[in-house]
Amino acid sequence: METIILNANDPESISRCADVIRSGGLVAIPTETVYGLGANALDENAVAGIFATKGRQPDNPLIVHVASVDDVKPLVSFIPEVFETLANKFWPGPLTLIMKKSDLVPSNVTAGGHTVAIRIPEHSAALSLIRASGCPIAAPSANPSGQPSPTKAIHVKSDLDGVIPYILDGGDCRVGLESTVLDISEDVPRILRPGGVTSDELAALLGAIEIDGTLSTDAPRSPGMKYRHYAPNAPVTVVLGAPDTTADYIRENMCADFAALMFDDYAFNHPNVVTYGDSTDYVAQAAHLFDALRKLDDMNSTAIFAQAPHENGLGRAVANRIKKAAGNNIVDLGKK
Ligand code: TXA
Ligand code: MG
Repeated sequence: METIILNANDPESISRCADVIRSGGLVAIPTETVYGLGANALDENAVAGIFATKGRQPDNPLIVHVASVDDVKPLVSFIPEVFETLANKFWPGPLTLIMKKSDLVPSNVTAGGHTVAIRIPEHSAALSLIRASGCPIAAPSANPSGQPSPTKAIHVKSDLDGVIPYILDGGDCRVGLESTVLDISEDVPRILRPGGVTSDELAALLGAIEIDGTLSTDAPRSPGMKYRHYAPNAPVTVVLGAPDTTADYIRENMCADFAALMFDDYAFNHPNVVTYGDSTDYVAQAAHLFDALRKLDDMNSTAIFAQAPHENGLGRAVANRIKKAAGNNIVDLGKK
């Protein structure tokens, strides 16, 4: 099968992709966070195709994408009190809400669990496709499991060429990191994955929230967080500390066949240095991180050093992805 990239602005592209979704197939779709690998969320066989195509562990549940708040009701057995406030404020957008599932949702979507993850994406092509398909769309990030998520149509092409019929090209993803996953199925809302909506924004609205030990490998509540992830082929070491100190450390330890992920304002001249934004510009870092990790991968280096931002605001999600890419292989200069 040849994988065709279709322009998401062309209504004909949307209807071709909707035909595929309705007939139980898979297409790659743009969202404001990352590209997703979508299928009819109510079709168990189509959903099984997502797991097979990504090589995804069956214990890792999927996010269901809908186009309106009304579409949520049939998918859940109970609407928590905070739901409406959160949906009004952050949807469409990069926030995924976990609630108790209804019987309508096939069990492979939720990996056999009693809760379902739902969000309304902001990208107009994703919304058009959900409406044209007439069903909710289950979509994990459109990368083989363990690899960096795709933020451009060409990333999906290089990962899934020949495996899916269409990639709907909606341009570069605005946010560039996956959605924040917030569990509202229990009394106190809990962030299971930091993402495009920050914990400060959620706390400002909700008051009490809990944050899961998202980097812990022992039984995190969001199953996806336990796997090494976003990982280039070469081992990554995160160097933590003040950016001038970490830049010095990387320069001193850099070998010819090493590569480095650095802030624009601290980078040094070396063919294998890839930058992803200024040290305090978390929005730019989020938007460029996954593309930068892919560039580093293409260099076939033997080891990669990475600078990571302070864990404030969106910086928390950026640092989380870099630490996951490093499998928690950290040099902390701040502690010396
Ligand atoms: O921005 C995003 O969220 C993107 C776009 C395509 O929407 N999707 C995405 O999906 O990142 P994925 O499958 O790569 O990550 C979904 C995360 C995983 O960590 C998974 O374990 C968690 O959400 N998750 C899904 N359903 C869950 C549930 N019922 N309970 C706890 N965690 C859940
Ligand atoms: Mg993913």
